[in-house]
Amino acid sequence: MKNYKRNLITCALPYANGPVHIGHLAGVYVPADIYVRYLRMRSRETLFVCGSDEHGVPVTMAARKEGCSPQDIVDKYHGIIKNAFKDFGINFDIYSRTSSETHRRNASQFFRKLYDEGKFIEKESEQFYDPEANVFLADRYIVGTCPKCGAEGAYGDQCEKCGSTLSPEELINPHSKVSGAEPVKKKTKHWYLPLEQYESWLREWILDGHKEWKTNVYGQVKSWLDGGLQPRAVSRDLDWGVPVPVEGAEGKVLYVWFDAPIGYISNTIELLPDSWEKWWKSEDTRMIHFIGKDNIVFHCIVFPSMLKAYGDGFILPDNVPSNEFLNLEGDKISTSRNWAVWLHEYLQDFPGQQDTLRYVLTANAPETKDNDFTWKDFQARNNSELVAVYGNFVNRAIVLTHKYFGGKVPENLSGAQIDADTLAQIPAFRKAIEENIENFKFREALKEAMNLARLGNKYLTDTEPWAVAKTDMDRTASILFTALQICGNLAIAFAPFLPFSTEKLNRMLNVEPGSWESFGCGTILESGHQLGKAELLFSKVEDEAIQKQLDRLEKIKAERQAAEAAAAPKVAPAKEECTFEDFEKMDIRTATVLEAERVPKTDKLLKLTIDTGLDKRVIVSGIAEYYTPEQMVGKQICILANLKPRTIRGIESKGMILMAKQLDGRMRCVRAEECLCNGAVVG
Ligand code: 2FM
Ligand code: ZN
Repeated sequence: MKNYKRNLITCALPYANGPVHIGHLAGVYVPADIYVRYLRMRSRETLFVCGSDEHGVPVTMAARKEGCSPQDIVDKYHGIIKNAFKDFGINFDIYSRTSSETHRRNASQFFRKLYDEGKFIEKESEQFYDPEANVFLADRYIVGTCPKCGAEGAYGDQCEKCGSTLSPEELINPHSKVSGAEPVKKKTKHWYLPLEQYESWLREWILDGHKEWKTNVYGQVKSWLDGGLQPRAVSRDLDWGVPVPVEGAEGKVLYVWFDAPIGYISNTIELLPDSWEKWWKSEDTRMIHFIGKDNIVFHCIVFPSMLKAYGDGFILPDNVPSNEFLNLEGDKISTSRNWAVWLHEYLQDFPGQQDTLRYVLTANAPETKDNDFTWKDFQARNNSELVAVYGNFVNRAIVLTHKYFGGKVPENLSGAQIDADTLAQIPAFRKAIEENIENFKFREALKEAMNLARLGNKYLTDTEPWAVAKTDMDRTASILFTALQICGNLAIAFAPFLPFSTEKLNRMLNVEPGSWESFGCGTILESGHQLGKAELLFSKVEDEAIQKQLDRLEKIKAERQAAEAAAAPKVAPAKEECTFEDFEKMDIRTATVLEAERVPKTDKLLKLTIDTGLDKRVIVSGIAEYYTPEQMVGKQICILANLKPRTIRGIESKGMILMAKQLDGRMRCVRAEECLCNGAVVG
């Protein structure tokens, strides 16, 4: 690897549309924080940048749901998210927001430069539009029935029930979330970044030049590139966001995925107005983006293409470590379904136990595949690893030192082979932890740190200082001297992962935070050094605490199921039995609509002239709510041909069109699978 002078570490800017949960922590923020802490322990110059992503549809949807303005939403959640990160020890150098003035100016200027240099294509296209609310509809604002699994409420881009990726065209009964109206297509102009122009450059840069990237990231990039890139719209018809800084672009804002990554730059400018360029425009800077898997295309294809188009010396990421998703108790984490463990709530239930969560989320991180968080696993890892191994070892070593040597690190007067052999293993742990962290394999690295604690525990079990103390204090002194050296090394090994317990351990050992360079390199605690008071490094998680969490989730699930059942449309009850003869009486046939017009002064009626194969006749039908006259002309339908004629609004109607009433109350014509001749008898 190139010898870089400094590291710019960015974390995906979370949408300020809700609080952050364990999925966020596990996927992005804890791994990034471990990496940053490690770099800093190695004295590598590092800048850690993040902030809230405050634009886009996720925010406007949350505002609609909570009945307030988008500004209210971002003001509320920006604060909650910022505090949650701080509470979990994730200390960014800056955590700003994309609604800041600096960002607005910077994103605007970024767009304008590309615009002035002709880097965009301007294109008119047809987009979905809500004719009642008079707004263009983002895919998320169009809902309907999923064509794949039949679930109601599927979005125009995805069905949350079965996970299928959809387009609004595929939805059955699409309607606008804003007004409920059926969306229509309407022309609108947007600016597009012609990604296809960057394809061969991206291939060379990533597929040839970054084969070391994680396979999930590399694989996703390859499949995008193999599929061929298309121009990507960088503006939207919305009233929330950074306005498009071009004349004639009223009512248009920058696409959130155009402005958000520029937020990394804006936040650096906000923090370091005079020296930000050294972080963004120097080949000596190594930039790493920590992101979730749904962000890969934007960080590996779109943002790099934007930076390339902009030029001016902007650097590209050297790596983009992305995790897969974390599920909760077997189900997808979802903000809208409240299926999550929210960080601020966790802290209320487990005060002071941030490191337990950091530990479990790292030990079980979705690094190569989606993983599941379960409360039982959380309890088991806390009680049988943190408490029983790491905490137990440290506690025994420190308590025994207080008991036999007044809390002073004893002399190493009677060293034995086992002491030397044990201490000799430490450099290998250091090497394994380093290699794994540097390759973004944090769960492996953490496992190695815990194995070092296991080594310490085994050492004490094998040497039994409490038994030896009855006969040989010199030997006891050496054993505890050795055990305390392992404690000193553990305080370094765990420091990137568990900042809160590391601080506690340093306090117990009465030392300043250890440097990485001293890890595995000789004596850490000199004989005669006075230790601090022994405390419990971790506390047990009791069954009741776990049951409380499981009950909470069970309640959420039950409430959701009840709400779904109540909201689910009901099919009409079965009718009374009829005989074949009853059915035979009905003359049902195919017919084609020749002409259609609205019946004046009515909202619901259409007058249809139809060809029944037997004759041409008029039927008056109450379907104007569901079909326009234009939609009916030429349609082959089914009719009840022998219904007694009726006069409706002065027009004689001879027959009835067969319609099916759907669960949502909408009527659709019953039609043959293929076009038949008119007059074909149905039965
Ligand atoms: O997925 C998300 O939560 C996005 N808000 C991430 C944006 S990352 C960056 F581009 F800002
Ligand atoms: Zn579905």
